[in-house]
Amino acid sequence: MAAFEDSAFDAHERVLFCHDARTGLKAIIAIHSTALGPAAGGTRLWSYASDDEALHDALRLSQGMSYKNAMADLRFGGGKAVIIGSPDFKGTDALYERFGEFVEQLNGDYVTAEDVGMSVDIMEKVARTTRFVAGLSQKKGRAGGDPSPKTSFGIFKGIEAAVRFKLGNESMKGLSVAVQGVGHVGYYLCKYLHEAGANLIVADFDDARVKRIADEFDGRGVALGDILSQRADVVAPCALGAVMNERSIPELQTTIVAGGANNQLESAEDGQRLHDAGILYAPDYVINGGGIINVASEYYGDASDDEVWDRVSAIGPKLTGIFEESASTGKPTSVVADEQARRIIAEAG
Ligand code: NAI
Repeated sequence: MAAFEDSAFDAHERVLFCHDARTGLKAIIAIHSTALGPAAGGTRLWSYASDDEALHDALRLSQGMSYKNAMADLRFGGGKAVIIGSPDFKGTDALYERFGEFVEQLNGDYVTAEDVGMSVDIMEKVARTTRFVAGLSQKKGRAGGDPSPKTSFGIFKGIEAAVRFKLGNESMKGLSVAVQGVGHVGYYLCKYLHEAGANLIVADFDDARVKRIADEFDGRGVALGDILSQRADVVAPCALGAVMNERSIPELQTTIVAGGANNQLESAEDGQRLHDAGILYAPDYVINGGGIINVASEYYGDASDDEVWDRVSAIGPKLTGIFEESASTGKPTSVVADEQARRIIAEAG
């Protein structure tokens, strides 16, 4: 395993390999940057094909968290943990407590929360042995709990900003939005869009989820393979990553791509492809920052739940700034966002 030679290695400050024979824990904690504050980012539980793949994921995701946290104006650097699963993996209380001890050993340089494969319940177990954890059960009136509604609200504000910038519309009334994936994030996004008067087109593997959107928000379900190529004012990927690529981009019949999925661009060139096609792309880690804003407010205990909603609203103006810089420099929005994030981190460092 060659950490320094890994293509995702980007001057990471520290990488911790955690092993515990008693519980079977194998985990990697990658700290990309603490320039802006403790390196914050969730823990992913995943069955990786190899330890190399796990390391690559931890390095890649922790760099992404540095950018996301910087662009959300948080006093957080970027970090990420992966717990390496396996077919006979046993997520015992003892394993999560042991993981918490490793997080504790980093003495606050890394703050964890949930990501794929984790839950509020599991984070409560991790929290038995470390103070440096968020994403716990919500206390009345305080920030915390499931971040999805806040994530979706930020995406909604981002879509409004994109529509204002690209189409000149001050309202979502009568506009159409194609939403790929109506799980946690997609569901709440549909709710906000419906309340604002938008027409919804949706697709999901899970028919019951599509039906729920049809029943509650008058959405129209379409086949999985057709959602991205809908003739719609906005396409909002809210399921998987890598959905914007050299195959899908020529098929798009929209002028705005703005959704919550992480890592929507298959490669950096896809940002340029969208730009060249005249499609306004809202960089994913900026538009979906509502969840981490919620986590930061919970961790620092510096905001009421109402104040967190206000902080999430700032995603709209933040994106407008990126769109304007892209228009004045001719650079893709994805490049502008990366440059802004790197600048913020470098200035702090
Ligand atoms: P989820 O698992 O609740 O929902 C994802 C939905 O997408 C599921 O209903 C699934 O059936 C559907 N889906 C999967 N592949 C699909 C496909 N090819 N076509 C159509 N539907 C498909 O996950 P969640 O929490 O809603 O997250 C969605 C995306 O947003 C992920 O990329 C996640 O990383 C990202 N995200 C989530 C945040 C949160 O607060 N939950 C925060 C930031 C990003």
